[in-house]
Amino acid sequence: MSDSAYNEMLRGVQPIGLSGRVSGAGGLVVTVSDFPVPVGAGCRILRGGVVGAAGVVGVESADSAAGPGATAQPGIAARVIGFAEDQTLVMPLGPLAGICRGDRVLCVSTEQVLPVGTAMLGRVLNGLGEPMDGRGPLAAETRMPLWPGAVSPLSRGRIDQPLATGVRAIDGLLTVGRGQRMGIFSGSGVGKSVLLGMIARYAASDVNVIALVGERGREVREFLEKDLGPEGLARSVVIVSTSDEPPLVRVQAAALACAAAEFFRDRGKHVLLLMDSLTRLAMAQRQIGLVAGEPPAGKGYTPSVFNLLPELLERCGPAADGSITGFYTVLAESDDLNDPISDAVRSVTDGHIALSRELANRGQYPAIDALESVSRVMLDVTSGVHQSSARQVRRALALYAEIDELIRIGAYQSGASAEHDAAVAAMPRIRAFLSQSMNEHWPLERTEAALGELASLCRPRRSRGAGAARSTGVSPVSRMGVSPMQTLSEDQTFTSRTNANETATPYVGHGRDAHATHGRDARATATSRREP
Ligand SMILES: Nc1ncnc2c1ncn2[C@@H]1O[C@H](COP(=O)(O)OP(=O)(O)OP(=O)(O)O)[C@@H](O)[C@H]1O
Ligand SMILES: [Mg+2]
Repeated sequence: MSDSAYNEMLRGVQPIGLSGRVSGAGGLVVTVSDFPVPVGAGCRILRGGVVGAAGVVGVESADSAAGPGATAQPGIAARVIGFAEDQTLVMPLGPLAGICRGDRVLCVSTEQVLPVGTAMLGRVLNGLGEPMDGRGPLAAETRMPLWPGAVSPLSRGRIDQPLATGVRAIDGLLTVGRGQRMGIFSGSGVGKSVLLGMIARYAASDVNVIALVGERGREVREFLEKDLGPEGLARSVVIVSTSDEPPLVRVQAAALACAAAEFFRDRGKHVLLLMDSLTRLAMAQRQIGLVAGEPPAGKGYTPSVFNLLPELLERCGPAADGSITGFYTVLAESDDLNDPISDAVRSVTDGHIALSRELANRGQYPAIDALESVSRVMLDVTSGVHQSSARQVRRALALYAEIDELIRIGAYQSGASAEHDAAVAAMPRIRAFLSQSMNEHWPLERTEAALGELASLCRPRRSRGAGAARSTGVSPVSRMGVSPMQTLSEDQTFTSRTNANETATPYVGHGRDAHATHGRDARATATSRREP
């Protein structure tokens, strides 16, 4: 054993030897008698009392749920999760198979800490903090508590700096601030993970900490290789706990990600903490709560779930130097954005991005429903010009939504409302702006310039000239003789070349709206359709 590993182990030694005996096991939990240790304490179950017995699970340092620099310990790592009468309830971090009545249980720590270090960058760790990428052990620099106490609200800094994500729809209409917490909500398969991957690759952060909690095993490799890519991985720490692992490991993976983010933040880094998904984390905590005897509430979620979510989310925020900005995906069951977990997360975060299955079905990715999404700090991190442009574009989206049905059935008649007409005319450009291919990165300034031009298109024609000049000025891209919208990629799902004077076709040459107007007046089309 190396000196550093030995010192590491010594630091974790529990000075008073507390031990108990396994009295029963069932489901996910082991009951231990004569074991007076606190909830959260780390322990090891020694099979048959034999040190180093076959079937040793996990590699855990004496007082931690393992981590870089951890040393091999005998037995099965476990945590105390509660008490039932005179029994202590212990949940193993591995399978229960092989545990016998009478096995000895040793308390190895009363505090959960994680050895951390800058060597974690570019590495993939499991829920116990062990490297799982086959690139050797990691050197620890220090140890961070997995569950530090709550931070005083008065000691928190204010969020006043924008964080460019590189995604037009977010930076333009839902600008995020450094230290903000954002939820990404949708039903399954609408694009949460892909959007998270884009943010990980393009956001202006120093370090990314990515927790994949409860994901399907297949998705992990796909996320690492396709969504994150080598450049994203190089400045990321990835912590993975798949759905087939014990619930305690999944919850620990989330806490570990927060501890790693705090380590980098304390070194003045602007950290992006990405968690996929908070719902699967809540499900893991629900399992733990139920076996610990908590009463189930809405959809079976136990009270500790609603305690865990704010506890984890409150760990983000700006610091004197550095910050942690959090993006958390939330899987809305049956596309219901008001299920208990979605509700709980929305009430804690500083904004939410709702993805729409309807937009995804039309091929608009990322399928961000701007009208259903909000960034609560946008006003603190954007200029007045940016805010006014975003408001104008949002208004156009809202106006278009009012007449969407009419347009679809060909009953919309232009001329009645200049504002609606302008919204209809601008819609192809707005959709082109909101769509973005996975491999496209847009700097914040470019997004702001494009948004300004878009806003001027959304103004009713009679006030467009004056309003555009007043609020947007001359865009840097226009100065170069190129419209920002003309610089949108060629592979946009929606055309970005539609002449603003042409009447709006929502999806030129696409899908179910392909039959609609194209370069003709909507009224003329509607009229001709009604005629026999
Ligand atoms: N930006 C995009 N461009 C093109 N296709 C996309 C984009 N985003 C998502 N998709 C498509 O949607 C599919 C599902 O995306 P993703 O895995 O991100 O969904 P999810 O919401 O994370 O699903 P789950 O809830 O099951 O985890 C992708 O496999 C891809 O085909
Ligand atoms: Mg996903």
